[in-house]
Amino acid sequence: MAFIVAIDGPAGTGKGTVTERISKKKKLLNIDTGATYRCVTLAMQRKNIQLDELEKIKKLLDQIDINMENQNGTQRFFLDGEDVSEEIRSKEVTKMVSQVSSIKEVRIKMVDLQRKLAEGKDVIMEGRDIGTYVFPKADVKIYLDADEEERARRRVKQNQEKGINMSYEEVLENIRKRDENDKNKEMGALKVAEDATVIDTTNLTIDEVVKKVEELIEQKKTKIKKEEKLEKVAYYERKETRWKKIVRGTIKGFLAGLYHIAFHVKVTGKVPDEGAYIICANHINYLDAAAIILLNKRKVRFVAKEDLYRFGILAWLGHLFDIIPIKRNKQDLESMKRCIKALKNGELLGIFPEGTRKGLAKNQKVKNGAAFMALRTNTKVIPVGIHGKFKFRSKIYINYGEPLDFSEWKDKANDKEVMEEVSKKIMDQIIQLSEKE
Ligand code: DC
Repeated sequence: MAFIVAIDGPAGTGKGTVTERISKKKKLLNIDTGATYRCVTLAMQRKNIQLDELEKIKKLLDQIDINMENQNGTQRFFLDGEDVSEEIRSKEVTKMVSQVSSIKEVRIKMVDLQRKLAEGKDVIMEGRDIGTYVFPKADVKIYLDADEEERARRRVKQNQEKGINMSYEEVLENIRKRDENDKNKEMGALKVAEDATVIDTTNLTIDEVVKKVEELIEQKKTKIKKEEKLEKVAYYERKETRWKKIVRGTIKGFLAGLYHIAFHVKVTGKVPDEGAYIICANHINYLDAAAIILLNKRKVRFVAKEDLYRFGILAWLGHLFDIIPIKRNKQDLESMKRCIKALKNGELLGIFPEGTRKGLAKNQKVKNGAAFMALRTNTKVIPVGIHGKFKFRSKIYINYGEPLDFSEWKDKANDKEVMEEVSKKIMDQIIQLSEKE
């Protein structure tokens, strides 16, 4: 998977320098998106096209070819094959570029180009709307800021180095105008992405900023590695062998014994000896899942957050009891596939419709996962009501209800309203059963 670092912020915050340094150090392709807007501006100026000549601009956009090459670590920009890397920094282009970049048609075309330049690569991209629009799912989002006087001073110095002669007042005025325009654009306005880290560079040296950004990149890479490792562990399927069955049987017996010592468990109702069913219970404590797994003759395969597999012993038990991992907050097709496969194999699937350990609150909206599975696979649901305090030697009631048949809606697994109705029916039963002693 490509790794994307987005660096946004107003002019003169050090974006360019920081991006260039990080790109070399971290071997990320550097893409200066401002340069793409500068190329369009230059092309317009060369053809004498004014800002309000939209038809001409559209035609120009269809004709011009903007490209980028990385030469010895520095990026060069080409307009119709000609290297314009220096020319696009001219005073004339700088004055007009913000307005050009406000034209919707220009933005659509340039964003498309920027995404293409980055396709499949590890990149660091600087601009104004990278984290908010071009790559809203960027791995690292940074917003560099600094007060305007400091930014103007930096720009004057930079200009002098490049042989561009502009007074401090002129640069400051230009920065103010551009900021105003960039922040109020109809499309791609300069703003801080919700999940961006803001770094105020006013009193920081470039080295300090580079260090901070590097740290954020490293943190993210470590997190990605950890998640990949977790995924590998969680989604590894340990084959069912005779030995696994023996170990599971022994551990189950032992833990069930401990369970009976710790609590007075009273079970009513039961699970049929054969066939696929979805067991749906209320979820007050991790110990309720344990009760259903340990105190059942048959193997119940619960669906649990993949985080369970973060901890060695729990990961081991998870594999032993064939717990099906599921990712939080996103659609997990692999997990769904495993649930369907288990039900097709005639196994018991355990799902907590409440999703988390919220405890039971009447009429609270529940997740539709159990309802979806029931309709998708046309499987009956066994509601279970659990109550008790899970304190040493206290009474725990586990009440199994009669299987609920939803086959009349079996083709409606994608109908949200039907699923909500089915979820509600399941929860109503669970609530009733959890009040029974
Ligand atoms: O970063 P720069 O000064 O080269 O950018 C030139 C102009 O382009 C600037 O006024 C803002 C605009 N721009 C933009 O609107 N969106 C981007 N992603 C990058 C630059």
